[in-house]
Amino acid sequence: MEPQKKYEQFIGQPRLPKFAVPKRYDLKLNPDLITCEFTGIVDIDIDIVAETKFIVLNAADLVIDREFVYFKNQSSSEEFRPVEIELVGQDEIMVLEFNDVLPTGEGILGIGFEGTLNENMKGLYRSTYEHNGEKKNMAVTQFEPADARRCFPCWDEPACKATFKITLTVPSELIALSNMPVIQEKVEGHLKKVYFQESPIMSTYLVAAVVGLFDYVEGQTSDGVKVRVYCQVGKDKQGKFALDVAVRTLELYKVYFATPYSLPKLDMVAIPDFSAGAMENYGLVTYRETALLYDEQHSAAVNKQRVAIVVAHELAHQWFGNLVTMEWWTHLWLNEGFATWVSYLAIDNLFPDWKIWTQFLDQIMEGLKLDGLEESHPIEVEIRHAAEIDEIFDSISYRKGASVIRMLQSYLGPEVFQRALASYIKRYACSNAKTEDLWAVLEEESGEPVNMLMNSWTKQQGYPVVSVKFIDQKLEFEQSQFLSSGSQGVGQWIVPITLCCGSYDVQKNFLLRAKSEILDAEEFIGCSIADESFAEKDGTKCNWIKLNVDQTGFYRVKYDDVLAAKLRYAIEASHVSATDRFGILDDSYSLCMARKQSLSSLFSLMDAYRKELDYTVLSYLITVSYKVASIAADANPGLADDIKQFFINLFQHPAEKLGWEPKQGESHLDAMLRGEVLTALVEFGDDATQKEGIRRFRAFLDDRNTPLLPPDIRKAAYVSVMKDVSSSNRSGYESLLRVYRETDLSQEKGRILSSLSSCPDPAIILEVLNFLLSSEVRSQDAVFGLTVCKEGRETAWQWLKDNWAHISKTWGSGFLITRFISSIVSPFSSEDKANEIQEYFASRSKPAIARTLKQSLERVHIHAKWVQSIRSEDSLAELVKELASRK
Ligand code: BES
Ligand code: ZN
Repeated sequence: MEPQKKYEQFIGQPRLPKFAVPKRYDLKLNPDLITCEFTGIVDIDIDIVAETKFIVLNAADLVIDREFVYFKNQSSSEEFRPVEIELVGQDEIMVLEFNDVLPTGEGILGIGFEGTLNENMKGLYRSTYEHNGEKKNMAVTQFEPADARRCFPCWDEPACKATFKITLTVPSELIALSNMPVIQEKVEGHLKKVYFQESPIMSTYLVAAVVGLFDYVEGQTSDGVKVRVYCQVGKDKQGKFALDVAVRTLELYKVYFATPYSLPKLDMVAIPDFSAGAMENYGLVTYRETALLYDEQHSAAVNKQRVAIVVAHELAHQWFGNLVTMEWWTHLWLNEGFATWVSYLAIDNLFPDWKIWTQFLDQIMEGLKLDGLEESHPIEVEIRHAAEIDEIFDSISYRKGASVIRMLQSYLGPEVFQRALASYIKRYACSNAKTEDLWAVLEEESGEPVNMLMNSWTKQQGYPVVSVKFIDQKLEFEQSQFLSSGSQGVGQWIVPITLCCGSYDVQKNFLLRAKSEILDAEEFIGCSIADESFAEKDGTKCNWIKLNVDQTGFYRVKYDDVLAAKLRYAIEASHVSATDRFGILDDSYSLCMARKQSLSSLFSLMDAYRKELDYTVLSYLITVSYKVASIAADANPGLADDIKQFFINLFQHPAEKLGWEPKQGESHLDAMLRGEVLTALVEFGDDATQKEGIRRFRAFLDDRNTPLLPPDIRKAAYVSVMKDVSSSNRSGYESLLRVYRETDLSQEKGRILSSLSSCPDPAIILEVLNFLLSSEVRSQDAVFGLTVCKEGRETAWQWLKDNWAHISKTWGSGFLITRFISSIVSPFSSEDKANEIQEYFASRSKPAIARTLKQSLERVHIHAKWVQSIRSEDSLAELVKELASRK
């Protein structure tokens, strides 16, 4: 037997051994933008805290210069050279073995290395752009979650904070950026050495560098922080909006967290190839172009809002994440959930008329949606290998995370909450924290048992549905785990129940700790409930009850039939707030999917939203109607036309109100709503709308600046065109491709990509899908074209199989691959298809897609059961007929 290699003791461990810890990195990088290779030297001040013959750190995809690896003890100046250097690929570690024991104390570890500027959008990678008609490379870093190790050897864990002194050698005509300001530049021939100021202590995943050609716009906060937005040469005007948001947001967070921004400057850069939306690198935030640049003439209101939200999110991380960092990836939600929540707080301050807290319901809804699957996971999730981290950047960490924070804030009150956050930031600044550390501070500040309250939400997956019944003047509450599959879960939560009765002036609350609780209605609410007048639309004060007031809780509510009917009337009579109208709709839709409620009852409820004009509610009503129309057509194709007509009727009223053209001084929300409502009418086959869309598109083809097609309604027009396209009439498709090729605005390209797949002709769908794989679509953008209309479902699945090898190779190393699966697999609704898909992936699944695949298959099973139950629903057809005939 071969003698066991000594380094094996370090293999397969989730975390690095800590007998040596880094204090300071002196990092020199020389990227060659022509050969797309780089060399580097890193000198790391380390502290040997326990005598050892080994130093273990992270490294991946790097070639180590074995002649240039040494350790020098500081006090004795003795130099040690490793006898063995093992690079363990699967664990992405590098083990240095020394002959002698390294003494405790400080020393310097020096390592020379080289690598490639890869095309996978992680580590130190290359992005491309055009300048004066010439294609050029830029060098960019993306290190989160665990890819700093692909750029330089390091202790690549969030808790291993150190300072960074970075030096870049780059072509002298280019701009080189890093986390800190430049302190010196030395030109040497056609190269220059750019020296950056040493950073405060920070985690490796936040280290960043960008090298390329840029223009910028600049501003300053009231306390002198220099803020710049860098973008492609000639696009600097497009950076102004983000710059303004950034300056104001920094000032706001300084007050909210009671701590100033901790670096002397903040740069924000638009990167043409970028896999996430943006990345919060300390002092050097990188963005997709669509998430940073705003073009007055060609960006839509929705693009503007996206820019504001993303900027506010990344800047929140400068405190929550960068200054105070999660101790391990298990606590990723502390970063992402908080940044998400705080970004809404900032935007609400900056743009109060955007009603962003109502829009926050989208976050809650998406969180509930994913967490309603058996294949969900708890907010705090065990991470045993770097490869598992990518997958938890999902709706659980972001959206459920943000939602439970909102729930807690509304339970404790905003003032206490803010005070506690400020002291948490102070206490853990320049350090790391775990979930329970935050709870402890909140508990101290509020005197409430926060830890106990929140554990049920962060340590266990899922959430409850609270059933409420009104019987004999008693209110009965019962919680059980909600699962979209309709199965029975075993979870139990401490649920902050809020309730209002007949008006928002009468509000009550209590903590539901047990499985169920019965309360005397009169005692609890303080007035009797008029049960005899349940069918009345108006009447006495207490004739309707709404739980989860303003939807601040992360749970669903199921009302008994009588209470549900009263709520429906209250909606029709406009007594219910927009947030609650949203919640009632989402709960009803989800209960219907879980087969706890009939489709007829959902349709009847939707019919109560005929007068709806609130952006968030209507936008979600549209989303629900797409889903329901599709599933009902799978169940019974004979119903499809009537259902479409019902939805056309539903959206006719807002469409007439909004018209096609912006009204003088109209709200941001109306601008966003217009496009969505018109698109919905086109999707449901409203002839007049489609014709008008096509007419306006023609005008646009003649003149890209025509007032007939402002950005907010372009998508509606593009979809109109694509719905009109068949293999014998391809001219619309070809014209759209022309616009795509011609524009250099990424948002316009995205808008077009997301419209192309609405074509009902499978032959064209196939062309569109193949186009996504061509060099004309950046790999970051291909995912926009994957939401294929019903007619293209089979084609898309066949295409995915035919191209799987290529797709898996191109997108397989990042998280975008999961979108190919979820978009194409989830829409199916039969057991046969689920089996077919499962069989296909049996030999093809891998860690990066395993969870998404399971979740997507679970959705197919859920749809299949739903279809069966719809088929057995009596009197659905009559109801749909009636609704379709009611104009
Ligand atoms: N830290 C993330 C970026 C990230 C995502 C890194 C996934 C590695 C893997 C960043 O703060 C972020 O959350 N960006 C969001 C935008 C935000 C507004 C939700 C994104 O990329 O979509
Ligand atoms: Zn984030």
